[in-house]
Amino acid sequence: MKIDRGSSVRMLSRRAVLKGGALAAAGLALGRAGWAADEQVSIPHIQLGNQVKMPVLGFGTYGLTGDVCAESVADAIAAGYRLIDTAKVYKNEEAVGAGIKKSGIDRKSLFVTSKIWVDDAGYEPAKRAFQTSLDKLQLEYLDLYLIHRPRGDVRGSWKAMEELNAAGRIRAIGVSNFDPAQLASLTVGAKTKPVINQIETHPFFQETAERESLRGVGVQMEAWAPFAEGRNGMFTNPVLEQVAKKHGKTVAQTILRWHLDRGSIAIPRSSNPSHRRENLGVFDFALDAEDMRLIAGLDLNKTQFPEWS
Ligand SMILES: NC(=O)c1ccc[n+]([C@@H]2O[C@H](COP(=O)([O-])OP(=O)(O)OC[C@H]3O[C@@H](n4cnc5c(N)ncnc54)[C@H](OP(=O)(O)O)[C@@H]3O)[C@@H](O)[C@H]2O)c1
Repeated sequence: MKIDRGSSVRMLSRRAVLKGGALAAAGLALGRAGWAADEQVSIPHIQLGNQVKMPVLGFGTYGLTGDVCAESVADAIAAGYRLIDTAKVYKNEEAVGAGIKKSGIDRKSLFVTSKIWVDDAGYEPAKRAFQTSLDKLQLEYLDLYLIHRPRGDVRGSWKAMEELNAAGRIRAIGVSNFDPAQLASLTVGAKTKPVINQIETHPFFQETAERESLRGVGVQMEAWAPFAEGRNGMFTNPVLEQVAKKHGKTVAQTILRWHLDRGSIAIPRSSNPSHRRENLGVFDFALDAEDMRLIAGLDLNKTQFPEWS
């Protein structure tokens, strides 16, 4: 996948961004978040298999509903996020749409993802579900539409998505929570290959084999629950704290940098405006081989969401 520099976004913060970890190296007490007042930060884009460019970092909206969701989305866009991730099953597409409208942003500079839930699997139901999602979001098209889970008539859903993609109603189509066999099975006889597989990935469930498999078939990996929702002490993990300290960054920023450094897109969610801005402060440092080795050692190789399996 080709990565390039994306749209420049203006960050709201209190500190000058330091390049290449110079801050940590200098030992200066410049604050661990590392974002800056009126500094331009560029969110890079990944070029997907169908040439569509997608921001590598976005805003997740699971669990955000109503006015909190609308406010959070509008503020996320103001802070610089351009990729917004929602789904029918989150029951917040109307609120996400309201937040987008409130932001006043040019639609073309956004990248909006939604997903077909299992009860809409199949050709006709998928087409209806797509239109309902669009109407709720108050949008004319989606940038990315995913099959949320590999259940039911996914081939029927895929055919509908292929047609909507060809008609220009969806810019890119993909899947979520598919294992390699399910992905391969969907691809057999399909006209269009999925460009994304959105899967649970974080330092406690690194999905290394899945990552290699996706890379092998040219499907971009996107991490859901990039922080595992903080489960299992993610934000106070001593190894992550050690790596974060070394770079003068927070644990959240370190985790997001880890996702990006292993070639994944990440979509952290936060209802906290300060966290949302902190989570954008990840483009001025990189993890080294030793950091990656330490974090690799945290892999428990199992889901942190057994209730969803
Ligand atoms: N395809 C799928 O099946 C699937 C499944 C689950 C999720 N998703 C998508 O992935 C997105 C992200 O996953 P998620 O929402 O489950 O969880 P997540 O992003 O892993 O974690 C969210 C939690 O992290 C906290 N947090 C965020 N930034 C922080 C920071 N800088 N410092 C400390 N805490 C911080 C948030 O608390 P605060 O609100 O207090 O900041 C919230 O409790 C979802 O919103 C959704 O869009 C997809």
